[in-house]
Amino acid sequence: MTLVKPRWVHVPWIIGAGVLLVVLLASALLPLATGMFDRWTQRDVDLRSRLVFESIREQVADFAAAGDTARANALFDRLTTDQRLVAAGLCAPDSTLRYGSRSMAEIFSCASIPANTPDMARVAVDVEDRVVVHAFSLDGKPNLGRVVIIHDLGFTAARLAQFRAGLIGALVVAALIAAALVAFVALVMARTWMGSLRQAIDDLRDGRAPPSPPSLLGVGQDVRQALDELDFVRRRIDATHTEWTPETLTVALANELPGSEVIVVSNREPYIHNAGKAGVHVQRPASGLVSAMEPVMRACGGTWVAHGSGSADRETVDAADRVQVPPEAPSYTLRRVWLTEEEQDGYYYGFANEGLWPLCHIAFVRPTFRESDWAMYRTVNAKFADAVAAEAKRPDPVILIQDYHFALLPRMLRERLPEATIVTFWHIPWPNAETFGICPYREEIIEGLLGSSILGFHTQFHCNNFFDTVDRFLESRINRETASIAFGGRETIVRPYPISIEWPPAALATQKPIAECRAIVRERYDLEPDTRLCVGIERFDYTKGIIDRMQAVDSFLTDHPEWAGRFVLLQIAAPTRSKLASYRTLQDEAQALALDINSRHGGGKPGPILLIAEHHEPADVFTLFRAADMCLVSSLHDGMNLVAKEFVAARDDERGVLVLSAFAGASRELGEALIVNPYHTHAMAEAILQALTMSEHDQQARMRLMREQVQSRNVYRWAGQMLLDASRLRKRERISKFVPPTTRAPAGAPA
Ligand code: F6P
Repeated sequence: MTLVKPRWVHVPWIIGAGVLLVVLLASALLPLATGMFDRWTQRDVDLRSRLVFESIREQVADFAAAGDTARANALFDRLTTDQRLVAAGLCAPDSTLRYGSRSMAEIFSCASIPANTPDMARVAVDVEDRVVVHAFSLDGKPNLGRVVIIHDLGFTAARLAQFRAGLIGALVVAALIAAALVAFVALVMARTWMGSLRQAIDDLRDGRAPPSPPSLLGVGQDVRQALDELDFVRRRIDATHTEWTPETLTVALANELPGSEVIVVSNREPYIHNAGKAGVHVQRPASGLVSAMEPVMRACGGTWVAHGSGSADRETVDAADRVQVPPEAPSYTLRRVWLTEEEQDGYYYGFANEGLWPLCHIAFVRPTFRESDWAMYRTVNAKFADAVAAEAKRPDPVILIQDYHFALLPRMLRERLPEATIVTFWHIPWPNAETFGICPYREEIIEGLLGSSILGFHTQFHCNNFFDTVDRFLESRINRETASIAFGGRETIVRPYPISIEWPPAALATQKPIAECRAIVRERYDLEPDTRLCVGIERFDYTKGIIDRMQAVDSFLTDHPEWAGRFVLLQIAAPTRSKLASYRTLQDEAQALALDINSRHGGGKPGPILLIAEHHEPADVFTLFRAADMCLVSSLHDGMNLVAKEFVAARDDERGVLVLSAFAGASRELGEALIVNPYHTHAMAEAILQALTMSEHDQQARMRLMREQVQSRNVYRWAGQMLLDASRLRKRERISKFVPPTTRAPAGAPA
């Protein structure tokens, strides 16, 4: 975009030209002024000589008449005590020196006075010796001779140097004053220009009259052209085909929410500082939320408020509990909130993960609701509300609340910061109304969420479930056409925003070529070079269908024993929430099942299932993806599942097969994967076979389409769409303040 420069942008040039002009003037003025000064000085010396002569003429005439040589000489000597008068004396008519100061005979010969010299005259100026000689006839009687007075011109040179320095100084001061004046005028012009520009941009953005000549009066063509270009950028960002990158996201934020402050709130922090044997080390948690939100924060800047859960977290924050991250190139602030063990037990393990998590995932683990957990959930939500309000520097920040840990936070923040734009994203599924209805605190949870300006889910299906739930349990006005719910005098937009990953993924930058990754991983896990590798990588969570996946492998090898010894499922499961019995049971069950399957299909080798219960950093995960022939994502229920998208992103060779659960939100976007029902063991086993026998051509065609999808619908688009909707909502709210309720247009779903 080429913005037309406003006129005041030329001010530096004007100042430069002014300074040049002053320099030119100085060089022209100096010789002139020097000439004038010279003439003035010589007149001054002439006058001095005359004055000296007049003051001594009578005495000299008397001494000459009396022939008093001693007194006459003494008189002339006294004259030369003035350092500018170097010699004086009386030359007789015969051109000899009759009387004189001691210096007279040395520097002057009376014979050098021309015969026709008038009575009072300057006799000679010797520039080299820097002297000027004046001769005056004594009483007009030539027979008495001439008084000669010799001045040193050295003092005039010093005076001239002083005069020149003064003149140059005055010119410089004048130039500086002129430059300061121009700069001041420019500043005033710039302020006026910016004010008009801001007003005009507001007009443009808020859909008021487009920038018309009267509104820009005094601002001019430049502003109007700049506005047109801004509008062009806005339209480009609005367009469906915008290529979303960190840069477009930054521009969208700057254009649509100018000067806004972004605050993210989540339970899980993006960087965990842990104390280890070798000192403090930083861990990137295995969390879809973090993988999605972190690149967005890197692009937008701002503050991320989260629970400080690392063993060295307290050591690494400042006095205000803040630390700048990412550690290698800080670009935003992480503000840590400390939770007691009791708070974690009730809020995180209890209500969030034993109540809401199984409730929303419908994964056949019975939700547990305890009054004490609920009380702690409320307490911790209020604690975070205080922390966010304390972090807010303006009354109207854009607050991005993440996930089911904070269902009450939107309303609590609405009370503390009524002008804030609150965007809440629910990272897990929202169940149908009947299922949600078993939650004893359903009304409070829904009311809490409706404190949001925008409430996002991964899919339209989850939005619909939410509408049904509100409809069933709350007195409100639901407008499904405009995707909004009016409750308690405010509206909440409810929309799907399919979450994604950054593109290109940062972890890909450091990866080795595919062949090397394959070799490294096969060597690391002691696998034959031609072993076909299937990977499963996630948190050790019962919603992920890890047991079901193993059962599918069991079924596959039972039906196709020829693959035994040639196929391995490498299951990386990062331990999570191990304090909860349901998670510990899952880990035990999975270990036992892996042993069982390996014993039956091992054929003397370690067996087809390699279960590693360890956290892996993103770069290691990407190496595993690149080394694999297929990736198996068999979630029993999943909001989106970013592992599926990361596998696709890791395969820049356009090879590898993704087997994906129909119950993961990602299946709506990655239709070229082999879509399976994880509850249907046999069908999943057949999908494994299909993946292993898929032609390279077919793999490439599918992978290419999926990569295009993940590339274009990346996480910057996810965040960008939410922020654009937030911006439209802000404008609408601003306008609605001036529109009487009866004529107010219905709040529509953002475009
Ligand atoms: O799916 C919801 C979610 O918050 C994800 O964003 C994330 O992958 C996971 O749960 C993290 O769980 P936790 O923070 O409890 O380890």
